[in-house]
Amino acid sequence: MAQNNVLAAPARPADPCTIVIFGGAGDLTRRKLLPALYNLKATGLLPKELAVVGIARAEMSHEQFRDMQVKDIAQFATRPIEEPLWADVRDALYYEHGEFADPATYRRLSVLLGEIAGKHGTGGNVLFYLATPPQFFAEIVTQLAAAGLARQARGWRRVIIEKPFGRDLDSARLLNGQVAQALEERQVYRIDHYLGKETVQNIMVFRFANGLFEPIWNRRYIDHVQIEVAETVGVEERGGYYETAGVLRDMIQNHMFQLLALVAMEPPTSFEADAVRDEKGKVLKAIRPMRPEDVLQRTVRGQYGEGILGGHRVPGYRAEAKVSPTSMIETYAAMKLQVENWRWAGVPFYLRSGKRLPSRRTEIAIQFRQPPLLLFEAAAIDGIEPNRLVLHIQPDESIEIQMKAKRPGPIVQLQTVKLDFSYKDFGETAAATGYERLLYDCMIGDMTLFHRADTVDAAWQIATPILDVWGSLKPRDFPNYAAGTWGPASADELIGRDGRHWWNSGVDVSGNGPH
Ligand SMILES: NC(=O)c1ccc[n+]([C@@H]2O[C@H](COP(=O)([O-])OP(=O)(O)OC[C@H]3O[C@@H](n4cnc5c(N)ncnc54)[C@H](OP(=O)(O)O)[C@@H]3O)[C@@H](O)[C@H]2O)c1
Repeated sequence: MAQNNVLAAPARPADPCTIVIFGGAGDLTRRKLLPALYNLKATGLLPKELAVVGIARAEMSHEQFRDMQVKDIAQFATRPIEEPLWADVRDALYYEHGEFADPATYRRLSVLLGEIAGKHGTGGNVLFYLATPPQFFAEIVTQLAAAGLARQARGWRRVIIEKPFGRDLDSARLLNGQVAQALEERQVYRIDHYLGKETVQNIMVFRFANGLFEPIWNRRYIDHVQIEVAETVGVEERGGYYETAGVLRDMIQNHMFQLLALVAMEPPTSFEADAVRDEKGKVLKAIRPMRPEDVLQRTVRGQYGEGILGGHRVPGYRAEAKVSPTSMIETYAAMKLQVENWRWAGVPFYLRSGKRLPSRRTEIAIQFRQPPLLLFEAAAIDGIEPNRLVLHIQPDESIEIQMKAKRPGPIVQLQTVKLDFSYKDFGETAAATGYERLLYDCMIGDMTLFHRADTVDAAWQIATPILDVWGSLKPRDFPNYAAGTWGPASADELIGRDGRHWWNSGVDVSGNGPH
């Protein structure tokens, strides 16, 4: 048997450390990071020697900061708070005020870190978490290096950088360059919270821990792949941000390209971080950037107008808060990508994502080729749908195989049936924020689920030519789909030109029906 490279379940508490959260008074900290730290505490994965420092502008004492977090955890915890456990976390919270651009902030932080290391026994280990608006990422790492905080003779220094990492190829390269001036790549953890999801992590296990699928996981047996992230929500209170982003930057360039890479990557030689990241990077590099004429043929964008969703009338995108009434930002996109390597040549990957669609779901459908001879064509009562393997990522976490079976009875009638496995039946898992595994991994120095500079670059190389064409050719038909429908008709045409269809657009809660 081949060498046993196990993707081991984390078991030991993480290394002693101080976690410094830049933006410690912000939304991400209160909603996700503190609840995730509490969940790690409850599962025994936090070290006893731990302290957390929040940094933001308002002046407040450590005690006031703790009181703030007590209120927030009561609201955002994903599991019941057990007082002695939470008290340990609470008592390890500290606060430092200051402007990110002010060197004095870092001088005060340095003094505080010294005090905390003595009091909590955290040693020299410090994890800096940049939970800040992206315009501060370069500023903070530069200041950390200038203040001598980015390196330490004893212990490790690591930096988690939030998304978005750049807004196109040039800005991502600039940011990567600035980060590289301040830190070594092995210190940089570019986070993508999608990769913290259980079912996303399971894609690799599914593919590489089972011998069943790998032999047919290629152009010979797979007809095409569909990856979909459908949301029912609109932009909610994020209109200001979304106006500078759109679905391509917000969802596709990062999360969906990662899903694609996990589906299409070659088996890594081990589960060491760089072995996995090498293979994912190769997939992205094998997607040739589109020429302008390809963008016109192989991509579609949309923006939702007013419509009916879940029985309620909802406003169009342009009527949302902090959105321009003439906005040209896309809330929907579909595209056809080709991974040009030996395994995948000729197998299209269709991606689509949008807001205000009829249901919320993230899924990957692998559609297999039909048998060479359709012996039972006439007996198939629900048509000649091919075999599909569907990986449901959210909200229902499950794996489904669709296949044909004979209906019981004296005549031969075929129908599609499903073999499925649901995570719900696998065992109880406590509700989580998605940040637990990522925070833990950073604390133990496992970079597997974090983006490397070259893979970020590769993803922007695919997205930027599309953004360039979309930016120079303003859409004339926005809004071009009603809220509560499955996106613009041109998305159906995109896949229809290849003689295919979106496999599951029939499921609809809006009452509008698929077009
Ligand atoms: N919120 C989420 O659920 C979520 C999910 C995924 C990713 N993210 C990413 O996480 C990052 C943070 O998002 P967020 O929603 O937490 O933002 P936010 O609520 O606006 O928080 C930003 C934090 O930064 C502080 N801050 C801003 N400017 C500062 C300055 N010049 N000097 C010192 N402190 C400053 C703010 O504190 P004061 O204003 O009080 O000084 C606040 O604590 C973003 O990159 C975002 O893309 C967020």
